[in-house]
Amino acid sequence: MTAPTFRIIVEEIMSTHHALLRRELPQITDMLKSLTENADSAPLDEAQMIFQKVRSKVETHLRDEETVLFPTGIALESGSRPEQSEMNFLERLAEMEKEHDGCSKTLDGVSHTIAEHAPDSELKDKLLKAIELVQLDFVSHVDKENNTVHPMFIELIALSQRI
Ligand SMILES: [Fe+2]
Ligand SMILES: [Fe+2]
Repeated sequence: MTAPTFRIIVEEIMSTHHALLRRELPQITDMLKSLTENADSAPLDEAQMIFQKVRSKVETHLRDEETVLFPTGIALESGSRPEQSEMNFLERLAEMEKEHDGCSKTLDGVSHTIAEHAPDSELKDKLLKAIELVQLDFVSHVDKENNTVHPMFIELIALSQRI
């Protein structure tokens, strides 16, 4: 039997990249809230709203990966039967790749708005650093998923349909 490569990769993704998002996103929400409360700026209010939307999209995305896609791939790889799911896997994977793109572009926009419209403060610097950390980590997170996890998942599904 071959090594459970899919399982090892997705476990590493969850314990590093997903854990980082779960730690940083709530902190960014809190910092943005404090920043906008004191600023009275329409662009900053909008950036806060946009961030909340992207955060909830990311959280749904992580949940779909952790509760459906990853467990299904792990089961297929180990030769056991995956739990039934309503999800159209190929469609969801394509949508997830679009979400990867969309999320990093949205975060870029949020970060530019803050840089441009928030008055200089320690909080502003801390917030921009936190967003930058998320964006940097997102690069390798997305690279692993788009270029390794998704192709492996598609192959596992194709193999299981051939049996
Ligand atoms: Fe992920
Ligand atoms: Fe993802």
